[in-house]
Amino acid sequence: MLVVPSWQTRRMNLPELTDLWPAIDPAFGNVTLRAFRPEDAPMAMELSRDPYVPAMGTLPLNAADDQAQQWIHRQQTRHTAGTGFSFAIVDHTEGRCAGFTGLWVRELPAGRATIGYGIAPSCRGRHLAADALRAVTSFAWTIPGLHRTELYIEPWNTASIRTAERAGYLREGLLRSYQEIAGRRRDMLLYSAVRN
Ligand SMILES: CC(C)(COP(=O)(O)OP(=O)(O)OC[C@H]1O[C@@H](n2cnc3c(N)ncnc32)[C@H](O)[C@@H]1OP(=O)(O)O)[C@@H](O)C(=O)NCCC(=O)NCCS
Repeated sequence: MLVVPSWQTRRMNLPELTDLWPAIDPAFGNVTLRAFRPEDAPMAMELSRDPYVPAMGTLPLNAADDQAQQWIHRQQTRHTAGTGFSFAIVDHTEGRCAGFTGLWVRELPAGRATIGYGIAPSCRGRHLAADALRAVTSFAWTIPGLHRTELYIEPWNTASIRTAERAGYLREGLLRSYQEIAGRRRDMLLYSAVRN
């Protein structure tokens, strides 16, 4: 008899993903997560000047205002497109957008999702990413069928490693030559959190 794993029979359709956008903005410590707005473009332009951020995603290096607006539009439509949830990180101290965090759900049928984050250089140094990671991880557990969230971090990226560990993520190991970034194969540390 052919046994079909339960996750293969449990596919999430797009209206369901749209319905899962949080009714109350997730928050932890000094940050609140909300949908991106056009006025967040200065943060995106600043973030685009850190070459590592454009290398990992779709934000162009040294983005002009129109490119930042297009990136914001893509973030606003991630959940309607079924890719995941992209949030602006609002810093309570400054009252403005300090960065982004995304929960990516391509592997949701298998109960897994990945999380990414970035903080604009002028807003770094106050552990805002760790607060955002705690907030987005709490949101993750509101999603039915999601049991595990993962972070993929390059071994040199101490700021991200410290962020993961401060937010309670556990290191599981080193994935050798795991993915290509900026034309070069990279090793990645795997960190995870699991639903209690
Ligand atoms: C990773 C990132 C989001 C962290 O931003 P942040 O929340 O402002 O982090 P902080 O500057 O408060 O630093 C967090 C910790 O890392 C340490 N740290 C920061 N920069 C560091 C560096 N260059 N070298 C060593 N340690 C560093 C801090 O001392 C702090 O340590 P502590 O927890 O012991 O106090 C930010 O550096 C960033 O956007 N980087 C580029 C994008 C990126 O790498 N994203 C993650 C991909 S996996």
